[in-house]
Amino acid sequence: MPTFSSIFEKDVYKGLTAYPKNLSSKYFYDEKGDKIFQQIMNMPTYYLTNAEYEIIETYRKELANLFDDENGFDIIELGAGDGKKTKVLLRYLEQNKYNFTYQPIDISKYALRNLKESLGSELPNLKVIPQEGMYFEILNRLSEYKKRKKVILVLGSNIGNLVHEKAIDFLQNIKSSMNEGDLLFMGFDQKKHPQKIINAYSDEEGITEAFNKNLLTRINNELDADFNIDKFLHWETYDPETGTAKSFLVATEDQNVNIKKINLEVSFNAWETLHTEVSQKYDDQIVKWLATKANLKVISQFKDSKCLFKDYLFSI
Ligand code: AVJ
Repeated sequence: MPTFSSIFEKDVYKGLTAYPKNLSSKYFYDEKGDKIFQQIMNMPTYYLTNAEYEIIETYRKELANLFDDENGFDIIELGAGDGKKTKVLLRYLEQNKYNFTYQPIDISKYALRNLKESLGSELPNLKVIPQEGMYFEILNRLSEYKKRKKVILVLGSNIGNLVHEKAIDFLQNIKSSMNEGDLLFMGFDQKKHPQKIINAYSDEEGITEAFNKNLLTRINNELDADFNIDKFLHWETYDPETGTAKSFLVATEDQNVNIKKINLEVSFNAWETLHTEVSQKYDDQIVKWLATKANLKVISQFKDSKCLFKDYLFSI
């Protein structure tokens, strides 16, 4: 394999020379991708955001009691995004004078910048310590602070982008940064009517399509490539047995793409697929199995009124 100047370059090379071709959904989130994801969260068909919002709003008091500690606590949020749901909890904690800090972590510096700004005006007294970077680097650093209780938040079913094996790695990594008494509060989108899932990931307006295609635009811009995004269509599948939803970009005709920066010429046959995302759906059994594999205990769970989504609380 040639040498690369970034992990993005290497991942693009690996994914586009593999068969079947694939790219990682973690690269959706540049400045434009963040904006499109905001639009997705506002789509009526994308039920996840409202369902989890309802959970946090309904149970904020109970959560505050579970999170509280005599020495105060630190809320560490992985993949904080725009913080819309977290703010409901933060506002409650602040108004009721809980002793805590909020430490949002995100790989997107754009998301973090916006979040810090909006918190500054909406909750000016909140102690915010934003951290930019990959989850594990920062979590490892945080595990050295044993003095205060940590409450780790991973909302929005972000874990769903990971196949089970990677999800277990992720949970194990989080677990290794937790001390006795620390908590993990994590969202898992639930299995439901398959059509509802398909609709959430293939809107007619084409917002989800644009989200997926932003990956190709990003390669065009950052790696000097010439993808013609009009020669791909977005396709969603859902397997109700495994609970796995998958996104694909499908080539609609034979074509070649030149990616100058990594010196790669890729050819697509008509109807060849490029797999871009997994959005795993769960039930209690799968979550329990993942937790067991990572040596975590499920201590409680919270669901919305329509049973679309659940947040689980874990301890070590
Ligand atoms: C941010 C990973 C939770 O999989 O539901 C939304 C991303 N992709 N529409 C999800 C996404 C297409 C989202 N997560």
